[in-house]
Amino acid sequence: MVAGIKKVAGLLVLCVWATTASAVNIARVDVAPLETSKAYQQACASCHMLYAPSMLPVRSWKKIMSNLNNHFDDNAEVTAAVNDEVTAYLERNAAENDKRRYAKSMLGLLNDGETPSAISDTKYFKLMHDAVKPKMVLGNPDVRTFARCEVCHSQAQEGKFNSIEAKIPNYFRKAGRFVH
Ligand code: HEC
Ligand code: HEC
Repeated sequence: MVAGIKKVAGLLVLCVWATTASAVNIARVDVAPLETSKAYQQACASCHMLYAPSMLPVRSWKKIMSNLNNHFDDNAEVTAAVNDEVTAYLERNAAENDKRRYAKSMLGLLNDGETPSAISDTKYFKLMHDAVKPKMVLGNPDVRTFARCEVCHSQAQEGKFNSIEAKIPNYFRKAGRFVH
């Protein structure tokens, strides 16, 4: 009898654990590129993570790729051939060519002709990070910049984002807000 109860209790614990674990692992946002590119990897992964092409419109990628010698105060220039290949890849997989939710919502919130130079400059990004204040990023020695998505999103490099599992170093959640 006691053994039976223990067994049931054990099963219950296991069920609760499994549900919480899977809830955390389900990516609410998946921007993993449907096509990958070795050239993109080689040209763009040495200074920061490889951003998913569908997080920006074609015109933003064009702007970024034609100004690589002055890229956020850095020089990220590549040969003309590599530039052509990477630009073509980014355009093929840009937001306009991706039917998933992130791309649609991000595009929908852009003004006519607006050409964001960064993912973190888009209105959609800012809306999603409304709870993340500048002091938690710029003033946080373990973050410093929104460009390092992987610091707060453990699956960022796989293109998976989930606000529930997002963590800000040196802060914790209390009643839905981030506190020091
Ligand atoms: C020499 C280093 C370097 C290389 C190589 C490089 N970048 Fe960057 N990139 C940077 C820096 C620095 C930033 C600014 C990060 C920040 O805001 O703190 C940046 C930011 C970005 C951002 C904006 C991120 C945001 O905040 O939303 C995009 C998009 C981007 N890079 C695309 C590319 C692409 C495409 C390539 C390859 C052609 C590339 N980068 C190669 C240094 C580099
Ligand atoms: C300083 C930590 C931090 C950085 C850096 C950061 N994020 Fe976030 N992000 C968060 C937090 C926290 C949330 C959830 C906010 C909330 O709960 O209101 C979030 C939410 C999101 C969401 C919404 C997910 C969902 O479930 O709908 C996406 C998508 C996202 N971030 C993408 C990015 C991308 C792309 C980058 C890099 C260009 C980035 N984030 C950089 C902390 C960060």
